Amino acid sequence: MDVVEAITSRHSVRAFLPRPVPRETVERIIEVAARAPSSGNIQPWKVHVMAGETKDRFSQAILEAREVEDHLYVAEYQDYPNEWREPYDSRRRTVGKLLYGAIGIPKGDREAMWKQFGRNYTFFDAPVGLLFTIDRDMGVGSWFDVGMFIQNVMLLARAEGLDTCAQGAFALYHKIARKVVGVSELEIVMCGMSLGYADPEAPENNFPTERVPLEEFATFSGF
Ligand SMILES: Cc1cc2nc3c(=O)[nH]c(=O)nc-3n(C[C@H](O)[C@H](O)[C@H](O)COP(=O)(O)O)c2cc1C
Repeated sequence: MDVVEAITSRHSVRAFLPRPVPRETVERIIEVAARAPSSGNIQPWKVHVMAGETKDRFSQAILEAREVEDHLYVAEYQDYPNEWREPYDSRRRTVGKLLYGAIGIPKGDREAMWKQFGRNYTFFDAPVGLLFTIDRDMGVGSWFDVGMFIQNVMLLARAEGLDTCAQGAFALYHKIARKVVGVSELEIVMCGMSLGYADPEAPENNFPTERVPLEEFATFSGF
């Protein structure tokens, strides 16, 4: 698979088949992904890979926590601005409408949305779940490096016939990640990721997302 095909065929998959992914495949993906560049070659990424019983225990613990005392769980970093503004507000609303429209959740049906969001925590039934972390004493520049590593994982997954969904949703439940998966107090949970074989029939896997035209985000000079 060439790099253009890997990039353009990648999309967030939110329904997976039960078909397992061998540990060796995941090892191959993350080993090659670690060819990502990093400032000073410090390679600040860390990844916790789970499957089977560990993944199930992690999912179960989060699903229970969000029903009982969800207010106790907050991310250790700010992912969104304090106040939304354009053009970003419209973009996130658009993708939300596309997703909930595809699966038939009407606008304002909070209960159905809460339930659908909860599917994040079973990794959308993917056989493999990953948690990406970074040591908390690293600078903001190192977060770029980890982002590049994460993107590599998603593209290499495509080359193996696999799909992914990056999931900031897991950052909220870092306390549970520490308890169940053994993530150290020295690490910040950046995001999770589902990895597996996509269910091609699922409506949540079958809506295209938009991108703004080049002129809106790029400037060229001196050509
Ligand atoms: C860092 C990051 C965190 C994300 N968190 C979630 C998440 O928690 N749940 C989810 O369903 N999608 C999540 N996404 C997927 C985005 O919604 C998705 O990438 C975006 O809508 C563009 O769609 P595409 O990935 O299909 O191109 C996340 C993506 C990124 C890069």
